Amino acid sequence: MSIDFSQRWAWAEVHTGIIQHNIAVIAERIAPTDVWAVVKANGYGHGAVQVAEAALTAGAGGLCVAIVDEGVALRRAGIQAPILVLSEQPAELAPLLVGYALTPTVATTLGAAAVATAAQDAGREVGIHLKVDTGMHRMGAQPAEVLGIAQFVSSHPLLSTEGLYTHFAVADEPAHEANARQLGQFTGVIDNLAERGITPPVIHAANSAAALANPAARFNMARIGIATYGLLPGNGVAHECRGLIPAMSLKARVSAVRWVEAGQAVSYGLRTPLTSQSLVATVPLGYADGVPRRLGHEGGHVLINGAPRRIAGTVTMDQLMVDCGPDSSVSVGDEVVLIGTQGGHTVTADDWADLTGTIGYEIVCGVSPRIHRRYL
Ligand SMILES: Cc1ncc(COP(=O)(O)O)c(C=O)c1O
Repeated sequence: MSIDFSQRWAWAEVHTGIIQHNIAVIAERIAPTDVWAVVKANGYGHGAVQVAEAALTAGAGGLCVAIVDEGVALRRAGIQAPILVLSEQPAELAPLLVGYALTPTVATTLGAAAVATAAQDAGREVGIHLKVDTGMHRMGAQPAEVLGIAQFVSSHPLLSTEGLYTHFAVADEPAHEANARQLGQFTGVIDNLAERGITPPVIHAANSAAALANPAARFNMARIGIATYGLLPGNGVAHECRGLIPAMSLKARVSAVRWVEAGQAVSYGLRTPLTSQSLVATVPLGYADGVPRRLGHEGGHVLINGAPRRIAGTVTMDQLMVDCGPDSSVSVGDEVVLIGTQGGHTVTADDWADLTGTIGYEIVCGVSPRIHRRYL
């Protein structure tokens, strides 16, 4: 018997048409730079396969993932577009990279050698992307090491340096001096390789913020993550992100209601007594579904019957409570919008992030697998 778990009274809606819209807006804004959609972490929580298909339909030239597993899952779903794995992978995984035609990132000669062995075993040519650490200090060859690695790659009959790239640490603050410094390091590496006759055809540096805010960082490809999903890379690039629309809504239905007297408090810790008699609505999702536990203490609201309502007290693992004040119209089964729009009001993942001291990225990635995604 197949069981349909999608009937749970808490779900996410992902508008793949909005993903397409966002990719099209970005592609037009940064043309002729090629847009590659970053779909790691299950498409930032939105569903990697569905986002990948939407992005490719809208004109993305390729996809980026963080780990081999994510690339394999896309291939198994039938996606044939280029897929770049964004950091050098353990040598043991090189056969999978090659076997599934994933584009490896190389940052060391040892890493290149592992890909070379896998290429030889499979009898396949492999184009790698060589990553340079220009100042983020997370992943990549030091600028002085790049030539040696590129020469190793060139000397191998089955390998080629198809791409050269770097990653910015503060692209969301376009005026930060580190952006120019990193770009200077990167162009230095490009020039140095060119002097030795090595000219990788694909050059990329930009994430969403850099692609939209820093034309000098565009080169011929950009790795677009958060903007694909319609969220802000940071408040410093809000203007450059105009026209992008959040693609995910988080919704639920009221599962219980009760009147609670003034002076009584709600939820674990009984921290904040109600100032007047209120209708308290219970909503059946909690921090195990990705709603931050402290959202209620930081002024978080949900939308019910077209109005913003305060989350009352601590968000629990599977449920949260909402203070509907004296409004007796709220009843079991009413739709609750946690992230999204209802009655002309909108709550975004970025709003939750601002309240809880994080970024929208973490909020959408945190919408747990327990939440069924409905694709619209
Ligand atoms: C190497 C790399 N490139 C691109 C991106 C996409 O960044 P964004 O989501 O800010 O566009 C990421 C995401 O963290 C990344 O790690």
